[in-house]
Amino acid sequence: MRLPNYNEAKDRNKVDITYLNVNNDIDAIYTNKKYFLRTYGCQMNVHDSEQIRFYLEKLGMNSTDTLEDADVVVLNTCAIRENAHDKVIGYLGRCKHLKKEKKDLIIVVMGCMAGQVDVVEDLQKNHKYIDLIIGTNNIYDLPRLLIEKGSKQNIEVYSNSDIVPENITYERDSKISAWVNIMYGCDKFCTYCIVPFTRGRERSRKMECILEECKSLVASGYQEITLLGQNVNAYGTDLNLGYDFADLLEKVAELGIPRLRFVTSHPWNFTDKMIEVIAKYENIMPYIHLPLQSGSSRILKKMNRRYTKEEYQELFDKMKKTIPNAVITTDIIVGFPGETEEDFQDTLDMVEYCKYDGAFTFIYSERKGTASSFMKDDVSNEEKESRLKRLNELVNKYSKESNVKLLDKVVPVLVIGPSIKDENKVYGYTDTMKLVNIEGDESLIGKIIDVKITDAKSFSLDGVVNN
Ligand code: 5AD
Ligand code: SF4
Repeated sequence: MRLPNYNEAKDRNKVDITYLNVNNDIDAIYTNKKYFLRTYGCQMNVHDSEQIRFYLEKLGMNSTDTLEDADVVVLNTCAIRENAHDKVIGYLGRCKHLKKEKKDLIIVVMGCMAGQVDVVEDLQKNHKYIDLIIGTNNIYDLPRLLIEKGSKQNIEVYSNSDIVPENITYERDSKISAWVNIMYGCDKFCTYCIVPFTRGRERSRKMECILEECKSLVASGYQEITLLGQNVNAYGTDLNLGYDFADLLEKVAELGIPRLRFVTSHPWNFTDKMIEVIAKYENIMPYIHLPLQSGSSRILKKMNRRYTKEEYQELFDKMKKTIPNAVITTDIIVGFPGETEEDFQDTLDMVEYCKYDGAFTFIYSERKGTASSFMKDDVSNEEKESRLKRLNELVNKYSKESNVKLLDKVVPVLVIGPSIKDENKVYGYTDTMKLVNIEGDESLIGKIIDVKITDAKSFSLDGVVNN
């Protein structure tokens, strides 16, 4: 039993990292059983679920999409905003109900909620039917804890890990596009954000291990690799081995993967060297997600974002100049404590300035334990809703404009799978990460093809194969 602890989570004293070779020899003791895995939140969680799926299958289980058929239910949770939390709690209600009829049902809670002190206290007190709670830093403990499971709720959460697990095996969802973790945790401590608490300190994987994983993906025929980290720009800083993210990006690009991407980049330490590497390699996709959060320098300071509105503009201009075909998207929060109408106008001005190709917009959500949770949340709900609506109108205008520019153009698209809505179509992504629905059959899946864009909507494009 090890409970999450925010003092440990906040501790950034440098201790030596242990590179742990995780054990993938797992006894198949759960044969004839079914698991149900549900994932909430970001790409990091989606990728973690590929590791979780590997363990569940190694234990001998088959997957089911029907909760009621499951013997083991795993919820890989998200803590970023209140609504993510509420969704999980709602789903746990269904699990509790099911467990009343199915006494042997095993319920496991993983992901970022497991790292929240107040949440785990609540799960301990009010959700005793949950069997296991496992943190994001020790996912590799899942098979052991399932094998050793007793009758009481067990909690195993390492809030600030000094471990970098290597040797991880994944049951990847896709044979076309793969996620590769390059680092874990985050040291930025943006004041609104729970991630530095739930995922601990920044720890980079060694370059040779990452390259080995990428090499084997190339050899297996993958078309796309996305390098993953909470803030990939910080890659290597903790290692002190003389290489940084730009070096890593270059080395992976040279392995010859047709498409290389990365998420997410903090604007604060996005170096000129990184911009030059992106511009230099054709297989590094001209797509950058560059979270703004606010256009007001005053609010950015309160958010501890480490850049001003002017510095962000300068970086943005440099990217557009050096990578002429770059598509830039962003994240924006409205209603941060103390945000005035004038601050919000600054955010709208920045959207006008950058004319983002796309943006994810959020209403500020107080996360217990973060620095901003001690600030007065003084923007009314009506005001927050109204700002979000006004922001979305502007954001949607520019994302539609960005899509309309592609009308009648021929663009390269990596086809990912069959369209969910139309059986005569498949879908894929442009190099600039725009979703395209294409007339065609499954023989196109896994290929990068030229597509002529025939229709442009706010959030997707339609196209036909250009022969
Ligand atoms: N409230 C609202 N949005 C948040 N984000 C992170 N924390 C919060 C919060 N407490 C948003 C940021 C981040 C994205 C992943 O989620 O915009 O970039
Ligand atoms: Fe959260 Fe900021 Fe770290 Fe992103 S960079 S995970 S917003 S603390």
